[in-house]
Formats: sequence, C-alpha cells, structure tokens
Amino acid sequence: ANKVTIHTLRKMKQAGERIGMLTCYDATFARILDGAGAEVLLVGDSLGNVFQGEKTTLPVTVDQIIYHLRAVCRGTSRAHVVGDMPFMSYQTSVDEAVRNAGRLVAEGGAEAVKLEGGADFDEVIRKIVRAGIPVMGHIGLTPQSVHRMGGYVIQGRDEEKAKKLLDDALALEAAGCYSVVLEGIPATVAEEITSKLSIPTIGIGAGPSCDGQVLVIYDLLGMDPSFSPKFVKRYAQLHETIGGAVRTYLEEVKSAAFPSEAHSFQMTPQVRSVPDA
Ligand code: KIV
Ligand code: NA
Repeated sequence: ANKVTIHTLRKMKQAGERIGMLTCYDATFARILDGAGAEVLLVGDSLGNVFQGEKTTLPVTVDQIIYHLRAVCRGTSRAHVVGDMPFMSYQTSVDEAVRNAGRLVAEGGAEAVKLEGGADFDEVIRKIVRAGIPVMGHIGLTPQSVHRMGGYVIQGRDEEKAKKLLDDALALEAAGCYSVVLEGIPATVAEEITSKLSIPTIGIGAGPSCDGQVLVIYDLLGMDPSFSPKFVKRYAQLHETIGGAVRTYLEEVKSAAFPSEAHSFQMTPQVRSVPDA
C-alpha cells in the first residue's frame, strides 16, 4: 500500500473514510501497527505516562521524543509518523518552537509535529508550517495544561466554552494545520467542529463523529488494569496475557522444564580420523 501523507488524510475526510491513528513508542510495535493498517502513528508525549511511569506528560523532553521517533520510523513503512511537541518546547518563543519542530523532523524522522493549544498558537503554527513542517493541532482536554485545567477534566461542556473550542479549531485551520486532535470534549461539540472544518478531526474521548480516532496503544491493549477511563475501549487484556506467559516461564525455570532438549545446543559431531591402512 502507498505511503500515507497529509494529502491522503485530507482525501479520506472528503471520501468519508475514517482515519485510524495510534500512539507508538518503539520499532517492534511500529511494525505491528503499520502492518495492521494504521494510517497515523503518533510518538505522543503520553510516553511520559505509559513508558516512563510519570504522573503527567510534563517531564518529557525533545530528546526523548526524538529517541522514540527514530525507533518508530525504523519500524514503519506505510503510516504517517507524527512527533509530539513536548511541554516547553514551543510555548516560550516562536524561534524555539520552529527549531524544536525542526529537530523532531531532521533528527527524529517525523513527517509532522503535533502541539497543544488553540488560537493563541497561530503565529507559532504559521512559522512551523512556513519551515515546511506540517502541524497537527490538539484542543480540548490538553494534558500539558493539567494544572491550569485543575485535573484531567472534560472541556467545552457549556455553550460559551463550546463556542471557544470551535473558534480555536477554525483558527488552527486558518493558521495552516492539516489536522486537529479533539480530546475530552462532548460528542456534539466534536460533531459541529468536524462539520465546519475542511481538515480532518481526530477524536479521543470526543464521540463518534470525528473523521478519525486515536488511542494510546497501551490503553487499547489493556496493559494497565488500574487505568480504565470512559473513553478507552480495551481490545485485548495484554496485562493478563503477558502476566500469564511470564508466570509460566518462571514456573518452568524453577521446575527445570525449560529449557528442554529442543531449546538446547549440541556439540558438532566429530568425524573420527581413519588411520592409514
Ligand atoms: O500523547 C498522546 O498520546 C496524545 C494523543 C492521545 C492524542 O497526544
Ligand atoms: Na500528547
């Protein structure tokens, strides 16, 4: 299948074809997700939570996103690879934002970057796009603003705030974003935004009307039994599968059932030299 580009995604919206996006942090997963047909792989700063074990995404650095991007790119042949701009990599100045976006592309191999924020970031977005880098927007529940939001709280639940989200989405499209993530907002608000934008919307906790959906890969695979927010659907229980496999391995190590002959090596059979007649 052909390489997915920003044009593929826009055409998919026009054709009413849903876009399937997942987060990805390493090459082995990238090969599986790319092979399964994901259109977009995001090296998200959610790696701070699921890979690093941090409570928020705030400690994630540009160097860390680059490290994971390189791994994901090596495992990807068809999907469009997006790198997340981490906290404080684009908020301090336009120059710094462009330089950091450039690093995700030049050093990490990203084909686009994603950043959180609405109309306030239109100048930053314009300058990154002008540098030749496609930008995916991200509005609604934006985890880098966890302290300003006072927690991971659904956004846009009253008319005034819903209107603000629509204005932000329109501002992102006008600034040159090729797509926008809508996170943690009412389904009706996401539906209205999706109908008013010509660029594709990708939802997470934003209802069924978005042009595509994204989930954190560890969440949809059920890697953490203690994390089950409303917006996540678990398509597997890998916590149990992995735990079970490891318990069996440990039992077999302790009982000496593993390794058996089948997993062991033998010496090369020696050819006995025949004495001269
Ligand atoms: O970091 C991330 O995983 C994200 C997606 C959930 C949109 O930003
Ligand atoms: Na993110």
